[in-house]
Amino acid sequence: DKDALVLFMPSGKRGRFPVGTPVLDAARQLGVYVESVCGGRATCGRCQITVQEGNFAKHQIVSSNDHISPIGPKEERYDRVRGLPEGRRLSCSAQILGDLVVDVPQDTVVNAQVVRKAATDRVIERKAAVQLCFVEVEEPDMHKPLGDLDRLKAALEKEWGWKDLLIAPHLIPQVQSILRKGEWGVTAAIHRDMDSSRPFIVGLWPGLKNEAYGIACDIGSTTIAMHLVSLLSGRIVGSSGTSNPQIRFGEDLMSRVSYVMMNPDGREAMTKAVREAVNDLIGKVCEEGGVNRDDILDSVFVANPIMHHLFLGIDPTELGQAPFALAASGALQYWAHDIEINVNRGARVYMLPCIAGHVGADAAGATLSEGPYRQDEMMLLVDVGTNAEIILGNSSRVVAASSPTGPAFEGAEISAGQRAAPGAIERVRIDPVTLEPRFRVIGVDKWSDEEGFEEAAGSVGVTGICGSAIIEVVAEMYLSGIISEDGMIDGAMAAKSHRIIPNGRTFSYLLRDGEPRITVTQNDVRAIQLAKAALYAGIKLLMEKQGVETVDTIRFAGAFGSFIDPKYAMVLGLIPDCDLAKVKAVGNAAGTGALMALLNRDHRREIEETVTRIEKIETALESNFQQLFVNAMAMPNKVDPFPNLAK
Ligand code: FES
Repeated sequence: DKDALVLFMPSGKRGRFPVGTPVLDAARQLGVYVESVCGGRATCGRCQITVQEGNFAKHQIVSSNDHISPIGPKEERYDRVRGLPEGRRLSCSAQILGDLVVDVPQDTVVNAQVVRKAATDRVIERKAAVQLCFVEVEEPDMHKPLGDLDRLKAALEKEWGWKDLLIAPHLIPQVQSILRKGEWGVTAAIHRDMDSSRPFIVGLWPGLKNEAYGIACDIGSTTIAMHLVSLLSGRIVGSSGTSNPQIRFGEDLMSRVSYVMMNPDGREAMTKAVREAVNDLIGKVCEEGGVNRDDILDSVFVANPIMHHLFLGIDPTELGQAPFALAASGALQYWAHDIEINVNRGARVYMLPCIAGHVGADAAGATLSEGPYRQDEMMLLVDVGTNAEIILGNSSRVVAASSPTGPAFEGAEISAGQRAAPGAIERVRIDPVTLEPRFRVIGVDKWSDEEGFEEAAGSVGVTGICGSAIIEVVAEMYLSGIISEDGMIDGAMAAKSHRIIPNGRTFSYLLRDGEPRITVTQNDVRAIQLAKAALYAGIKLLMEKQGVETVDTIRFAGAFGSFIDPKYAMVLGLIPDCDLAKVKAVGNAAGTGALMALLNRDHRREIEETVTRIEKIETALESNFQQLFVNAMAMPNKVDPFPNLAK
């Protein structure tokens, strides 16, 4: 008998195997990840694959059915009891009879979009840190004095190859009863990504335990977002968010640091608040997914440096002042129980590494998700909040900085500004001739001018302008000549339009002449200029470090990026010139990065290694930052050309 050629999709890995080899064994030998809990007993159903039908000309296969063994008794029994979906086979039972193309189903498809603009769908290859392993343990024998735990370990080594196993101490007193309850058949959860290189038994159940979950969580200053995922199928079974209750101690990051400095119990109170919110959120995603929180065995967190410290119970005071020292910059691991996360007693917490004192584990998550270092194009990745985290690079070099944009982009410091919520104006156009505005409000799905507005807005009403609309209205004011390149509202326009109104010694633009009256003042324009200049100067500094005049692609991470129209961001000069088709919103990229690290432990090594290579630039220490900032106050910029805007 000659060997058969087997090709695994989507990885494309291939090899030749003797006829009769189980498909699962072939996958193992090629390093193709196929889940298995029962160890090939045809009981867990986790090893399912499909055999491709169709055009096999490329692979010289005519009909796959002759090339794989027919369903045998064990597989038939599984199908009868649990049901095999159409076209699926158990790879532990199906044997290779001839050349084959095998599809390994990938259930984790992350849609990175959060708000409205669709970004890319992606598939995360599964290689979770936790693996469930069913074993049959030898019964005790008076002639062999080995303990129950030791026989369990021996069985795990024999059947699954786990050497040097350690066990979580809380399980030791339960080993005997679990073995007996399972009649010597038990499932162990093995965690193979602990600080020690030795694998760890972190869970033990009688009989076949066929499900384990993990959570990926992004702790933001204003919102906490979480996914609940099956570690076995990779499927996301619940996703939810909640506001960060620390807001009651301070709106922004620095006010929370001050709260810690001023109040002896401040740190503790904020740690308690965020952990409670995380626990509540776990309850919420578990309810959504119909999952018991005790089945959560692993977790990955990302956060900005101050949230990172507060969540882990670390005093963030050092982060509030130069030189902005992190207590720990590398990836951190805990028992979830030790930081009061209420899930399985054996569950772990993995926190991604921080890049610098102002560029946190959330930026590391976004970097892992978007992967500037995995490709050759010069990629600019920005996450705009009260601080903009900026990453610029490609496969040869990545640099990072943070820039103090302040809260203007979020609608704070703007006279009619508000957070994105129903009633907020989100889109604005200004007629360049009449200077009359048209706008769209969140919750009302149509454009309207002032007259038709009341009717269009219906019960939603209008309350203010959100961040994306502030960018648009200032850009539109610039495009229609209401403001000059240096940002001054032109008072001479008042003669031409009733929309330009005096306001002390400056002028304002009357965006809405109703109740409430909404104006864009000279101060508002100034606040946006300062914010965008800080962002642009930070970006420009990184471009200088990289020695590039342009970037190839731009990715906007975070909620702000999902709302903003790239064209207006460029008109105002928030971002450098770039082909607009290559400017994309990627949603909560930090959360996607956490999900990747949860489902594939290789991604943890990847980001740990990447972060050590990222060069951190401290904007405050760069002598030309001030000049770049001044140049960036102009629209779109005093010195830099924007050829893509002319198109
Ligand atoms: Fe469990 Fe195949 S490995 S059914």
